Amino acid sequence: MNIEKKEQLYEGKAKKVYRTDNPDLLIVDYKDDATAFNGLKKGTITGKGVINNRMSNLLMQLLAKAGIPTHYVEELSERETVVKKVDIVPLEVIIRNISAGSFAKRYGVEEGIVFDEPVIEFSYKNDDLGDPLINAYHARALKLATAEEIETIKKYAFMVNEELKKFWDECGVTLVDFKLEFGKTSDGSIVLADEISPDTCRLWDKKTGEKLDKDRFRRDLGGVEDAYSEVMKRLLEHI
Ligand code: TMP
Repeated sequence: MNIEKKEQLYEGKAKKVYRTDNPDLLIVDYKDDATAFNGLKKGTITGKGVINNRMSNLLMQLLAKAGIPTHYVEELSERETVVKKVDIVPLEVIIRNISAGSFAKRYGVEEGIVFDEPVIEFSYKNDDLGDPLINAYHARALKLATAEEIETIKKYAFMVNEELKKFWDECGVTLVDFKLEFGKTSDGSIVLADEISPDTCRLWDKKTGEKLDKDRFRRDLGGVEDAYSEVMKRLLEHI
């Protein structure tokens, strides 16, 4: 693809975003930087940027085939991808199939309880406030999204869950929970944006229950790089 990388527009915790010579396209550049607890814990996961870039792009292409529109356009290099320019809806959309993380902590239950149906949660994407949990009424009151946009986001999020649950199961991996972000394109349509990676999903080995995601970094469990490589290897064997 003939595209020119222009100046950096934004640097987030895990990615940098660049303007291009095409006003409808951006380039994202995945870093090895890792943070947790709203940036309080900082570190490096060597090779993470390369894995997250590839994994996210492959999974977004899989989801596109299942009818979920995404921001993905083209992989440019090991760490760089061309994506559609969108206005990010400031909601972190979390789907949970099994209790873990903040759900287990907030409601005082153990991790590993398999839910009868998936749970959807929204957080207000606002670092200063620590991404507080909100519901659809809060989101509408705060004008973060319209009722129609929230319905579309919910529909796509559950579709993503069905596709990813099935795919990871074939890889011998249990999809415990994950976080999605959606964006609005210039024509106002909602597309899946951001990334899908071990940074944003809880992935447990189906047989042993071993954690194969960023919880190894968050909880100082060691073997972080190996876990990312392992899930990437399994994905490449089954995609
Ligand atoms: P939680 O249990 O900490 O709320 O996390 C739920 C899911 O969301 C988990 O798969 C990790 C992911 N996540 C992010 O992608 N970014 C974040 O900032 C947080 C807190 C969680």
